[in-house]
Formats: sequence, C-alpha cells, structure tokens
Amino acid sequence: MSRKPKIKQVAEMLSQVDRVTVLTGSGISAESGIPTFRGEEGLWKTYQAEELATPSAFFKNPKLVWEWYDWRRGLMAPKAPNSGHIRLAAWEKIFSTFTLITQNIDGLHQKAGTTKILELHGNIWKLRCTEEGTLIENQEVPLEVIPPLCSECKALLRPHVVWFGESLETAILQNAIQLSSSCEVILVIGTSSVVQPAASLPLATADAGGKIIEINPEVTPLTSYADFSIRGKAGEILLEIDEELNRINRYKGTASQ
Ligand code: APR
Repeated sequence: MSRKPKIKQVAEMLSQVDRVTVLTGSGISAESGIPTFRGEEGLWKTYQAEELATPSAFFKNPKLVWEWYDWRRGLMAPKAPNSGHIRLAAWEKIFSTFTLITQNIDGLHQKAGTTKILELHGNIWKLRCTEEGTLIENQEVPLEVIPPLCSECKALLRPHVVWFGESLETAILQNAIQLSSSCEVILVIGTSSVVQPAASLPLATADAGGKIIEINPEVTPLTSYADFSIRGKAGEILLEIDEELNRINRYKGTASQ
C-alpha cells in the first residue's frame, strides 16, 4: 500500500503547527552505516550489554569497556549525517519552536547542523572524570591510552554516556518532559520505543493533546498510540514529507499574495 496519502496528511498537519519536538533513536543513523542496538546486526545481538554498558562492568574491567567504546568511536568517526539528519536540521529553522531530543551518542545531528538538541544518553565524543566529573571533548581515534586518565587528577576517565542502571541527567530529562508535553506534534523516528524514560516522552505529548507521528520500518510498542505511523526508512520518508511540505507552503505562499 502506498504511503503517499499518509505523507500528504503528515505534511498538511506539520504545515499548520508551530511547536514541534522530535525524538530520535539509532534507526536514524542506520542509513549512515552505524549499527542499531536491537536490529538484525544490532550491537546487543553481538555484545553483552551487561558486560560493556553498566557502571559495574566498567569498574570491573575499564580496559575492556574502553576497547569497545574505542572500536565504536572508530566506526562512527568517518560516518556522515544522512538525508534524515539533514532534513531535521533544516526544519529547525521553519518551526517557531523546534527541539530535537536524541537517544543517540554519535553526534551526527550536530554534524548536520542541528543546534537545539537534548542528548538524553550522552555523547561518545565526550569523556568524564570519574573523580571530579569534569567533561572533556575528545575526537582522538584510536585513543592513544586505554583506559584514558584525567590529566588533572589521574583518575579514570569514562565515556560520557548513560549506562544501563544509571539515571539520566535531571535537568536534561525535565527539559525533555517539558518539551514533549508542550509541543503540538512529536515526531518519533528510528527508535524501538522500549527503553525508558525516553519511550514515555511521546505519551506525555498525547496526554497533553498533542499528536504523535512515528517513522520506523517496523511496528513498535508505540505504534498503537501514534496518530500516524509510517513504515520505511527515515532518510527517505523525511525527504518525502519535506517535498510535500514545500509544495504546500509554496501553494500557501502563492495563495496569500
Ligand atoms: N529508519 C528509521 N528507523 C529505522 C531504520 C531506518 N533506516 N533502520 C532501523 N530502524 C528502526 C528499527 O526498526 C528499530 O525499531 O530503529 C529502531 C532501533 O531500535 P534500537 O536498536 O532498539 O535502538 P534505540 O531505540 O535507539 O535504543 C534505545 O537503548 O541500547 C540502548 O542507550 C541505547 O540509546 C539506546 C537505547
């Protein structure tokens, strides 16, 4: 069944709103060549999350955990934003209130030009001192020293990412909840909607009377709550919506003159 009618309806809806929030997951970076977590060749199919992405795993064997994060940084470093990232960066400028909330740690949204962004799960290009909590930007691939140490106090540095069993930064989470419950539309792109608290943000939108638009090749636990759920790849679908949005706005532009 063609997705064209849904694309038209979604574009029509977006052309009538001002406050838009976007929630992305690893699926939006799949077309850039970065593996997802739970997909066919997903990371959690090959690696044990409890051995690599928990605080206890890190303190038990920081070298092993850092070797894995160094490998992931090596994989991500040459990757470029795809059409999906680029569309969303452009949309930041066409809506009066637009914020992108991401679960991704790859930094590709920023590379595409997105500035209004909340990183719920941290960023793989930032290191944090386990003693003083200082954040250090680091793009070194591969890392020269594993495990890396704080240049100030010589304590272990850890990846500035949120591991399983850890809480999100309070200010970031509160901001994400506020933005989700005050937007007219939330676009939920490339996430399996199983990891909390991110998976609950769209429900805050619906509770406040806003609309949920989901983009994913697969059905997820969120699909039955969505006003529109479009099957397919984010890069392709966001381009189609953008083309339709431009057509509508051009038409409206003409109409008002
Ligand atoms: N376009 C859109 N969606 C896609 C694409 C694509 N090209 N390719 C795959 N997807 C979808 C998959 O169908 C799946 O539903 O992206 C989703 C990826 O889901 P997960 O692998 O579970 O990743 P994510 O939802 O981002 O995981 C959430 O879990 O492991 C933790 O901290 C990690 O941030 C991560 C969190």
